[in-house]
Amino acid sequence: MTIIMSGSYLIICFLSLFLIFTPSFTIVFGLAGCRPDQIQALVQFKNEFDSSGCNQTDYFNGVLCDNMTGEVTKLQLPSGCLIGTLKPNSSLFGLHHLRHLNLSHNNFTSSSLPSEFSNLSRLEVLSLSSNSFIGQVPSSFSKLTWLNQLDLSHNQLTGSFQLVQNLTKLSILDLSYNHFSGDIPSSLLAMPFLSSLDLSENYLTGSIEVPNSSSSLRLEHLSLSHNHFEGQIIEPISNLITLKFLDLSYLNISYPIDIQIFSPLKSLLILLLSGNSISSTSLSSHSGVPLRLEKLGLSGCNIGEFPNFLKSLQKLDFIDISNNKMIGNVPDWFWKLPRLSTVTLVSNSLTGFEGSPEVIMNSSVKILDLALNHFKGPFPNPPHSLTVLSVWNNSFTGSIPPAICNQSRLALLDLSYNNFTGSIPRCLSNLQNSLLVVNLRKNNLEGSLPDNCYDGALLRTLDVGFNQLTGKLPRSLLKCSSLKFLSVDNNNIKDTFPFWLKGLPNLQAFTLRSNKFYGPISPPNQGSLAFPELRILEIADNKFTGSLPQDYFVNWKASSLHMAEDGSLYMGDYTEIPGYIYEDTIDLQFKGLFMEQGKVLTSYATIDFSGNRLEGQIPESIGFLKTLIALNLSNNAFTGHIPLSLANVTELESLDLSRNKLSGDISRELGSLSFLAYISVAHNQLKGVIPQATQITGQPKSSFEGNVGLCGLPLEQSCFMPPTRQPKEEDEEEEEGVLNWKAVFIGYGAGLLFGLLIAHVIASYRTKWFVKIVGPNKHKEVDPACRPDQIRALVQFKNEFESRSCNNSDYFHGVSCDNTHDWCCHEAKTPK
Ligand SMILES: *[C@@H]1O[C@H](CO)[C@@H](O)[C@H](O)[C@H]1NC(C)=O
Ligand SMILES: *[C@@H]1O[C@H](CO)[C@@H](O)[C@H](O)[C@H]1NC(C)=O
Ligand SMILES: *[C@@H]1O[C@H](CO)[C@@H](O)[C@H](O)[C@H]1NC(C)=O
Ligand SMILES: *[C@@H]1O[C@H](CO)[C@@H](O)[C@H](O)[C@H]1NC(C)=O
Ligand SMILES: *[C@@H]1O[C@H](CO)[C@@H](O)[C@H](O)[C@H]1NC(C)=O
Ligand SMILES: *[C@@H]1O[C@H](CO)[C@@H](O)[C@H](O)[C@H]1NC(C)=O
Ligand SMILES: *[C@@H]1O[C@H](CO)[C@@H](O)[C@H](O)[C@H]1NC(C)=O
Ligand SMILES: *[C@@H]1O[C@H](CO)[C@@H](O)[C@H](O)[C@H]1NC(C)=O
Ligand SMILES: *[C@@H]1O[C@H](CO)[C@@H](O)[C@H](O)[C@H]1NC(C)=O
Ligand SMILES: *[C@@H]1O[C@H](CO)[C@@H](O)[C@H](O)[C@H]1NC(C)=O
Ligand SMILES: *[C@@H]1O[C@H](CO)[C@@H](O)[C@H](O)[C@H]1NC(C)=O
Ligand SMILES: *[C@@H]1O[C@H](CO)[C@@H](O)[C@H](O)[C@H]1NC(C)=O
Repeated sequence: MTIIMSGSYLIICFLSLFLIFTPSFTIVFGLAGCRPDQIQALVQFKNEFDSSGCNQTDYFNGVLCDNMTGEVTKLQLPSGCLIGTLKPNSSLFGLHHLRHLNLSHNNFTSSSLPSEFSNLSRLEVLSLSSNSFIGQVPSSFSKLTWLNQLDLSHNQLTGSFQLVQNLTKLSILDLSYNHFSGDIPSSLLAMPFLSSLDLSENYLTGSIEVPNSSSSLRLEHLSLSHNHFEGQIIEPISNLITLKFLDLSYLNISYPIDIQIFSPLKSLLILLLSGNSISSTSLSSHSGVPLRLEKLGLSGCNIGEFPNFLKSLQKLDFIDISNNKMIGNVPDWFWKLPRLSTVTLVSNSLTGFEGSPEVIMNSSVKILDLALNHFKGPFPNPPHSLTVLSVWNNSFTGSIPPAICNQSRLALLDLSYNNFTGSIPRCLSNLQNSLLVVNLRKNNLEGSLPDNCYDGALLRTLDVGFNQLTGKLPRSLLKCSSLKFLSVDNNNIKDTFPFWLKGLPNLQAFTLRSNKFYGPISPPNQGSLAFPELRILEIADNKFTGSLPQDYFVNWKASSLHMAEDGSLYMGDYTEIPGYIYEDTIDLQFKGLFMEQGKVLTSYATIDFSGNRLEGQIPESIGFLKTLIALNLSNNAFTGHIPLSLANVTELESLDLSRNKLSGDISRELGSLSFLAYISVAHNQLKGVIPQATQITGQPKSSFEGNVGLCGLPLEQSCFMPPTRQPKEEDEEEEEGVLNWKAVFIGYGAGLLFGLLIAHVIASYRTKWFVKIVGPNKHKEVDPACRPDQIRALVQFKNEFESRSCNNSDYFHGVSCDNTHDWCCHEAKTPK
């Protein structure tokens, strides 16, 4: 079985929540002081749209009227309220006295910006962000000469924005996340009051000009990241000496950036250069760097050795040098930087630490991420004040240092994918007031799982999979009542099925795959096995026996989960630790399943009972599990019919009932399962006609083999006449081995969340999905930018047709997806 592994960095972005409330009649609140005609205009404005999503009591909360004249001066709508087109004759444009207008986070579907905005000539603040506006900004905007804040970010605006020339009072201008193109107007950086300028995520080209007399400037915050500049842009920026925040990540400039060029920026606190190449001589120099720097982003900068210039940054508290090519040891001076707090060196080729182990222990680092490197040897005693220690995917050996238990604030301990030996330190229970996540997966740990959960423990994720643990599951786990994710798979644990875990009110995912569990999996009193929140249950490859009562699946969480309607809210099940996001992950071993598993944890369910000795009928109650996307009952001794109710599990993508003793027909209703990407009923005692729906006939014939009585496509036996069709070559290639797959998604958030920086650091991470598709024939990779719901739609489209003659490995080659989403940023990296 091949193992495809991917580490991925995940940053959850701001997600606008569209709240749904029951519509009710408008109650006019808090409008004292507003003139009746103004109130009428406001109500009329609302009535131009579908406002059923508005919180009606909230609608007028953001309205202010002048207490002398009664005219509306401020309007700030609640998020997600209005849906519809903003028309040029909208009564909004009659509110001539507006000074502050905030319509952000509504949905003006495909509206262009009406030039009538210029009617609101007294506007000082205008925010239209996140609204699906399209087209160009009308030239009449240049009449809004009183504007000091203009936010048009997160729309789909195009063209250039020369209009700003007349907006001389502007102090904050945000045009980020649009499709603006062309040059930056030369006057822009000469605007006398401009203090914050965000042009990130556009298609800007050309160079920029900075006036020589830049001493009069006030620009403190500048973001140009993710654009396509060609010409001179770095040098002119070094004249902007008032800058405190500068984001130049992911610019398409052809020459390496010299860090020294920023030395005139004496006030600079935050510098983000990720995704650009940096000149290596400038990295090793000690002089000419902005010495006040506190936060520095150098991810993906082609850096080959540990940058020496950091030594002079005595104020540095945040440093990201992930995704580079650094080799060798981490120098000891690095740990002595007095304010160092967040360090990510993820995904480099570092091998060790220089200097005495005490240096690291004495460091002020709180968040330390060394994942995806080549660190080897015993793990040094970690810094005293750690809250996050993540070193997954290295080659550390020896035992887990007990000194870890002295970190009284440790919230996350991820030592997975190393070569740690010995037992799990009992002293970890000292940390139960701080530990949220313990991940020790894929090491060589022995002994039993410590019996050390106490009442009130905060632990929500415990993953000890792929070790050599023995003994039983400790009953004290029940005291870890926050536990959501428990993975003890691939060990040598010998126990009966832990029905008692039902007492964990939050348990969502539980895998005990490949251990030595035995005995029945139906509760002693028979009936349903309903854990209150469980949606992923993997008990494959153990020695479970017995049969399942008919109501076994009644009241399972999978029947009542709320399904995300589209893929737009990508939010796995994650734990937020201040400054860091961790996402639970689990191996998915379902053929045909292509759902990113973070998604699975929140909205979908999977069940794997394969490779046991279960018998009797498959309970009809399986049909209740509406959000089940994968079911594997193969390699057991189930008898009776395939339950008809399976046709009700409409989300099902992977169904494996092979190698049982099932008899009877395959019901035609199964043909209605339109998402089905994989089905196998091979090696049973089925008979009759295979339902001739394309997603079923498109399967390899091995999916139906070993049933004497089956006929129809994809088998060669015709039900009515002798075979007419030659088997295809492709089918012959089909073997179990090719289909077996296992994706270990390590959802992962480099901890980059802090105050002001949040949006900007997020923007420095490119959105990228890592999705593997395994269809009926071969591995296929889809454009990683595609959203899961989009992929589902593509697969469904294919299933609407007979697609046997498609070259399946080609089907997704012609697919490309927009990679500019703002709904989430996700970067995937495949480690060596
Ligand atoms: C609507 O907004 C009001 C005021 O902000 C708030 O108190 C109320 O809870 C909201 N209603 C709902 C259904 O959320
Ligand atoms: C009107 O508002 C101004 C400030 O906005 C305030 O100073 C003044 O007291 C108010 N007048 C009345 C009559 O409420
Ligand atoms: C506009 O409203 C949104 C909430 O919908 C808020 O987050 C944002 O700060 C507001 N912008 C201004 C400039 O007031
Ligand atoms: C605005 O114009 C549209 C036609 O473009 C018309 O249907 C609508 O009634 C007008 N609305 C108002 C408020 O005048
Ligand atoms: C915009 O202003 C002009 C002139 O002041 C006026 O004629 C027009 O009706 C206004 N538009 C709207 C939609 O109120
Ligand atoms: C905006 O509204 C349209 C039409 O109702 C809908 O299809 C679309 O999904 C909405 N977009 C957002 C971001 O809510
Ligand atoms: C910009 O301002 C100048 C005068 O300062 C004026 O002549 C010009 O028409 C304005 N441009 C626009 C597009 O309003
Ligand atoms: C800025 O000064 C340089 C020389 O210091 C000169 O070559 C350049 O023309 C000046 N640029 C402007 C816009 O004045
Ligand atoms: C980057 O610039 C080069 C030319 O220097 C161009 O060929 C390439 O397409 C650009 N890449 C992107 C992503 O714009
Ligand atoms: C670490 O800190 C201790 C106590 O503050 C001090 O005695 C020791 O010299 C320090 N070690 C190093 C290597 O800095
Ligand atoms: C772990 O250690 C064993 C021997 O102790 C070695 O065979 C194996 O290759 C090591 N694995 C890794 C990933 O370093
Ligand atoms: C499928 O669900 C429908 C309604 O939810 C129910 O009436 C029907 O009996 C179910 N079919 C089977 C075979 O369980």
